[in-house]
Amino acid sequence: MTTVFLNGAFMPMEDAKISPMDRGFLFGDGIYEVIPAYRGELVGFGPHIARMNQGLQLVGIDFKWDVVKWRAICAELIASNQGDNLAIYLHVSRGTDSKRFHAYPDNVAPTVFAYAFEIPAAPVPDKAQTKGYKVATTEDLRWQRCHIKSTALLGNVMHFQHGFAQGCNETILFNAHNQMTEGSACNAYIVKDGVVITPPLDNHILPGITRFMLLDILAKHGAIEVQERSVTMDEVCAADEVWLTSSSKEIAPVVEIDGQPVGDGEIGDVWLAAQTLYTAHKAEY
Ligand code: PDD
Repeated sequence: MTTVFLNGAFMPMEDAKISPMDRGFLFGDGIYEVIPAYRGELVGFGPHIARMNQGLQLVGIDFKWDVVKWRAICAELIASNQGDNLAIYLHVSRGTDSKRFHAYPDNVAPTVFAYAFEIPAAPVPDKAQTKGYKVATTEDLRWQRCHIKSTALLGNVMHFQHGFAQGCNETILFNAHNQMTEGSACNAYIVKDGVVITPPLDNHILPGITRFMLLDILAKHGAIEVQERSVTMDEVCAADEVWLTSSSKEIAPVVEIDGQPVGDGEIGDVWLAAQTLYTAHKAEY
């Protein structure tokens, strides 16, 4: 029987239950460590706990147990689980909320989970007993696969929180070349001289269903020109209108960015025309 630790208690693995509303499950919103323990001796324990505390602080999870408490949990997992050589897995998520909303919740206790699993005996400095690895190579795309609607959303959550903490409804993101990519949970557009401009689909943005429907409706209707091309920060600042789209927002007009008005600071006429068309045709999809 595997004994695990969950939220303050030790229990059989099969009794450990976490809500599907846990933000670790919904957003990948948590921090973890894996610490080896050879014949009961933890290796690198202090630095592992220090890195965990640093990670928790960096993602704004207000949680800190001292090394004495973590060591006692690790010792109990080592004592109560079989195997000479174990790794201890520690995981703190932001906790279980009542709703799925990107911003950090108030008054939610982090979920704390730990368990032990068997690992091979410690490597020995002896060529005869050591097997060399074969590896492959590829471009480092972590995590630039924004076109995949993955639940690994901690990056998005942190970007959403950036705006939310300032009283904003969303955060618009730019790449290292000052080109707009998308919002933390939506696609983004500018309107200039009546033309709607939005970044092209690639691995840096999610191919939003609302984006697809909107561009399709505008193309069929024909009165509003659309360009799919990169949009610089300067163009965003000089735009007549800025919009966001997502399934829950449809087309949301942005009237202020970083405290500055977009255009004349009022909701634009091109937005009105586009949202009117979208409202009329969305049921066709
Ligand atoms: N977000 N880009 C990102 C990063 C998103 O998370 C979303 C959707 C979109 C728009 O996609 P669509 O039009 O298919 O909803 C673009 C959802 C609403 C969310 O995470 O709550």
